[in-house]
Amino acid sequence: MNTFDVYPLFDIEITKGNLCNTYDKQGNEYLDLYGGHAVISIGHSHPYFVEKMQKQLKELIFYSNSVINPLQTELAKKLGDISGYDDYSLFLVNSGAEANENALKLASFYNNRSKVISFCKAFHGRTSAAVRVTDNPNIIAPINSAMEVEYIKLNDFEAVSLALNKNDVAAVIIEGIQGVGGVQIPSADFLKHLRNECTKTNTVLILDEIQSGYGRSGKFFAHQYTNVRPDIITTAKGMGNGFPIGGVLISPMFKPVYGMLGTTFGGNHFACTAAIAVLDVIKNENLIENAANVGKYLINELKSIPEIKEVRGKGLMIGLEFDYAVKDLRKKLLFEQKVFTGASGTNIIRLLPPLCLSKQQADLFLEKLKMCL
Ligand SMILES: Cc1ncc(COP(=O)(O)O)c(C=O)c1O
Repeated sequence: MNTFDVYPLFDIEITKGNLCNTYDKQGNEYLDLYGGHAVISIGHSHPYFVEKMQKQLKELIFYSNSVINPLQTELAKKLGDISGYDDYSLFLVNSGAEANENALKLASFYNNRSKVISFCKAFHGRTSAAVRVTDNPNIIAPINSAMEVEYIKLNDFEAVSLALNKNDVAAVIIEGIQGVGGVQIPSADFLKHLRNECTKTNTVLILDEIQSGYGRSGKFFAHQYTNVRPDIITTAKGMGNGFPIGGVLISPMFKPVYGMLGTTFGGNHFACTAAIAVLDVIKNENLIENAANVGKYLINELKSIPEIKEVRGKGLMIGLEFDYAVKDLRKKLLFEQKVFTGASGTNIIRLLPPLCLSKQQADLFLEKLKMCL
């Protein structure tokens, strides 16, 4: 059997990782400015993470959600403390799409409505409701298309008021910072406007922090540059530093009912161990502060490079927009300079390195980038 060929691949086989570096099977070292799609938060094979996982592997990997799992309680407590959402509840899943799927479902259960407002260029995943609220017709199959969705331009205040004032919208879903859309940032005033309009119309406000969360922006969640508190927050990617886990943070206004949500694998012992280790390291190594500081330095330095048309971002979530397609530039960075980067559309390079990126590594990247321009 062959694998289903849906991914265009670079001819590179990565066999090892060490914090912000990866190594291919020939032993070449790569600087990882992409973290495998923002997944590597505390660093590849971080020793604390490896030790915790090895210990748990020998004890128990999985038992179902029909028995007490103290690791879920520990994770919820630590996540509540570090995020400032200790009064919210946590529902654990396995991926970002699944987190958004459950968030949208909860919203619809709550106000008994079914229409959703999303934003132009949004990406929320590839399962049925999550892909339907994603602004990319190429990945929405006919089977997904029945749900009613309106896409609004980011930061369009009037369009939001107009869309919500009929009191028929179940939820507004918005990324803390749009990732796949090219690092587009909703303004603080726009998020406040959304909050007010959602409250006024009994619409559920969902913040998708799957890419922008977990310290990446220099705050635990990107929306925390404002004082807006969403009704639901979704997380995944950096949550497990490579081990699949996602979460839905749910405000106290939602009352749980046995059976309303569920999953076989979500919240299993091994996944919780990964997520707890990530939060321990983020806290002990001040990685949110590091992302803020190194990110600020990197963004400033990038802004002084004349070939880059625009630099956008917060912390270590950075978009570099060029006047031309970046495909060749990314290839040069990867094959000549041994640097992993990401792309958005044709003209944007996305940087999403592990949160432990040092200033020296940022300088090394700048040097390598300049050599390719
Ligand atoms: C903002 C956002 N939401 C949701 C997802 C979907 O996450 P997953 O691929 O884990 O389903 C992604 C993945 O790129 C994302 O960037």
